[in-house]
Amino acid sequence: MATITEASSPILVFDSGVGGLSVLAELRTALPDAPVIFAADQAGLPYGAKSEAEVAARVCGLLGRMAERYRPRLICIACNTASTIALGMVRDVLEIPIVGTVPAIKPAAALTKTGVIGLLGTEATIRQAYVDNLEREFASDKLLLRHAAPGLVDPAEAKLRGQPVNPSDVEAAVAGLLAKPEADKIDTVVLACTHFPLLRDELAAVLGPEVALVDGAAGIARRIVSLTQGQDFERSERSQPDFAVTTGAIEDFDALQSELRRYGIEEIRAF
Ligand code: DGL
Repeated sequence: MATITEASSPILVFDSGVGGLSVLAELRTALPDAPVIFAADQAGLPYGAKSEAEVAARVCGLLGRMAERYRPRLICIACNTASTIALGMVRDVLEIPIVGTVPAIKPAAALTKTGVIGLLGTEATIRQAYVDNLEREFASDKLLLRHAAPGLVDPAEAKLRGQPVNPSDVEAAVAGLLAKPEADKIDTVVLACTHFPLLRDELAAVLGPEVALVDGAAGIARRIVSLTQGQDFERSERSQPDFAVTTGAIEDFDALQSELRRYGIEEIRAF
């Protein structure tokens, strides 16, 4: 029997922190009427410093409980670290469509002219076999220079809470990429962490205007559109406003209030 999805059934966008908002921005443009729950595992941030087992256990456990509580029609794991480690496991245990966020190596390989691509991600993401496979499949004739830039996560979190970003923090976080052999030929950089597009201007200032910054958000939004084709959406700002949930302290999320409103999210709840 075909499942009939109710028009008010939400799409759940999940990340360890505010990085998911870079994906939500594209989703809003693609599906303005879709009800959305933005879920952040702030108590688990940063995922990039955790082991594969820890990330997998947290993500599977939390998404299982969130799916039961909120009955979403689809879950978007708007986090490269969680997706490259746990996408398969989450799909195995949940019965709704799961859309992951994986490093945009394919579009970067199509874009590069020099054949040298940089990839900035978390420590955990850059060591995943998932990334090896993407490199083998789409960039085997390119040079892919991977660099862990965990130092970009906190500035992105702070920026969305209205705090200034110190350019020297951004410089320090990407210095290791620019020090690699052949790095002077990089013309395309994959932002393989959803926090990083939130620092697009700051990164462009350090990497230079001639370097293209590529992320997967628009592709993810297109994938969600295709998976929900034919479904009705009804977003009722008055009776059932979109909301954000955090596993961390509500007071910490309060500082995001005006930013969340820009993404159509009016309410903050504890999970
Ligand atoms: N936003 C997460 C990602 O896309 C990374 C942040 C973290 O380390 O938790 O990988």
